[in-house]
Order: sequence, then structure tokens, then C-alpha cells
Amino acid sequence: MRMSKSTSKPSRLLDFTFCAGFVLGFCLCFMAIAYYRAYQISQETVPLPSRTSSLLGELPSVLSPLPPSPSSGRLLCWVLTSPQTLWTRAKHIVNTWGPRCDTLLFMSSKPDLLFPGTVLALATEEGRANLYNKTMAAFNLLHDSYLDKADWFLKADDDTYVIVENLRLLLSRFSPDQPVYLGRRFRRFVPQGYMSGGAGYVLSRESVSRYVRALHHGTCSQSTSAEDLLLGFCLQKLGVPAGDSRDLQHRETFHPLWLGKLLCTEDTLPKWFHQYNYYPSKVGPDCCSNSSVSFHYVKPVRMYMLDYFLYHLSPVGGHRPKLGETREE
Ligand SMILES: *[C@@H]1O[C@H](CO)[C@@H](O)[C@H](O)[C@H]1NC(C)=O
Ligand SMILES: *[C@@H]1O[C@H](CO)[C@@H](O)[C@H](O)[C@H]1NC(C)=O
Repeated sequence: MRMSKSTSKPSRLLDFTFCAGFVLGFCLCFMAIAYYRAYQISQETVPLPSRTSSLLGELPSVLSPLPPSPSSGRLLCWVLTSPQTLWTRAKHIVNTWGPRCDTLLFMSSKPDLLFPGTVLALATEEGRANLYNKTMAAFNLLHDSYLDKADWFLKADDDTYVIVENLRLLLSRFSPDQPVYLGRRFRRFVPQGYMSGGAGYVLSRESVSRYVRALHHGTCSQSTSAEDLLLGFCLQKLGVPAGDSRDLQHRETFHPLWLGKLLCTEDTLPKWFHQYNYYPSKVGPDCCSNSSVSFHYVKPVRMYMLDYFLYHLSPVGGHRPKLGETREE
């Protein structure tokens, strides 16, 4: 009797614990499924925010491993990409320069939940003819969901390489509360010039705000394939000055070509190059500022090469001698 009593008590307790555990587990499981269903439904039926065309909610943005530099402000980088090039080009930005921005977004016409970065789907058609529509939709989205989360908005193509630290250095000379936009200044068609789309361009928060207000008022809504030109045209109309992004030695920092072409000889440059540059340009090492910000036409393989040259490789003895050290030798 005693024995059975003493064994039955703990075994009942065990049974109870087991049952309670089972019920709790079941509940948790049920809740998880219900939550997932609700999430799926919300993904399907939540009305899109008016004017913007994001099909996805806010996914966590890829954050920089470095703390944001206080002098330059928070940098949001958005990459204009497409479902066709998301995995072949844009992915390599996630693996190289992209995470050095404080916020990194990819604007495409389709969402992609498997992509290792935040893809925002714009309700526009793909193709060159729709580039400006895509850009307008992107700015609408940035204005509605990210205006208070960043000070500077860099647009890059999915074959642009950006040296983010140098961009921050450049931006520290400007205020995000002032209307200004920066990039490789071209001189055709717009009196104050406009910034090359391929080299990437940066708008201050104030400029984004002015631009999107103008879109809502129908001030700047014509559409052609030349998105960079139309944006420049609109920004001039709105009194947003085209800033000078050159360094103190007047060398360019944003480059609409691959570095190889700029370093080589005149005949490697495309014919349009000198016609389009706002400031006289050179070939050879003087093509480019020591604190260059961007290059265009960077194939994925070259992205990794640039990353390696800039952040890993250095000849024995260091290729950036400090003045004090060289004097002592
Ligand atoms: C751009 O979008 C508007 C409507 O939002 C549309 O009417 C127009 O055809 C589009 N432009 C192009 C080039 O597809
Ligand atoms: C750019 O870098 C080169 C090589 O280190 C150096 O000789 C040159 O003085 C630098 N130019 C400026 C303006 O810092």
C-alpha cells in the first residue's frame, strides 16, 4: 500500500506535467500556424499604401556592420534592379559594398522572399522604356516609408560599385536639410546639368521631399527612358542645385564608366564622354579622385575584385605611406 501510494503520487504528477506540456505545445503550435496564416493573408490582402507600389511590407533592412558616421548622416542606398538581374547582378552588391550603407534596398517589379536582401516591388512594367516610371515609383515609396529613416538617398544601378566611406566623406560637406543632389554631372539638355544614372546619384532628404511633392502636383510626370535626364530636369525646376562632387583638386569622384577605360588612353573612351561631362575630364590616374565614390559597368567579378583591392590587398610596406613616416626614412 505504502509503496504503491508513494509511486502513484509522482507518476500522477508526471502524467499531469506531460499533459500540461502536451497541451501547451499544442497551443503554441496552433498559434504559430494561425499567425503564419494571418501573415500570409495579410500579405495578400492588405491594401497597398496609396501612391506607393510596394507589394511587400517592411522587411528588416540590411544594416551596415560599421556604425553610421555621425558627420555624414544616415545613408540609404537603393539599387534599381529587375527580376532578370536580381540574382545575377544585384546579389553581388549584397556580398560587396551594399551592407556598408545604413539601409540597403532593391527596387524591382516583383518581390523575392528568397533574396538575401530587401526587395521592394514597384507596380511598374520592366524594360528601359519604364525606367523613369520605376524611378518615380521608387521615390514615392522612399518618401512614404523611409524619409524619417535616412538623411541621404543614393540611387545606384545593379552594375554600379560604390565606395561608401568616400561617399560619406563627400556628404559630410553638405546638409541633408538643404536641397542638393550629387553625382557625375553631365552638361547636356539641362542648363545646370544632370547626374548620370549609371554612376549613381544622391539626393538630400529635402530634395526627395521636394521631388515627391512635385510628382503629386503633376509638375514632373512625363516619362521616357532617360530617367536620369528627367530627374535632373525636374530638380532644376524645383530649385534643387546640382552640387559639385569633385575633390579639392577638381578631380571627379563619380564615374559613369568602368575604371579600366578611364585609366587607359583617349581612344578607349566612348565618343559621348567628353560631350557629356560638365567639367573637363582626363584619362589616366588624374581621371579620378583618390577618394572616388563610384564606378559604373562593374561586372559581378569586378565587384569582388574592387572589394579585394580596396579592403584587403596592400603591397608590403603599405601603399598609403603617412607623410611623417616617409620623412623619417
Ligand atoms: C508610366 O506610368 C503611367 C501610369 O502610371 C502610364 O500611363 C505610362 O504609360 C507609363 N509609361 C510608360 C513608358 O510605360
Ligand atoms: C593620390 O594618391 C597618390 C598615390 O598615393 C599620391 O601620390 C597623390 O599625392 C594623392 N593625391 C592627393 C591629392 O592626395
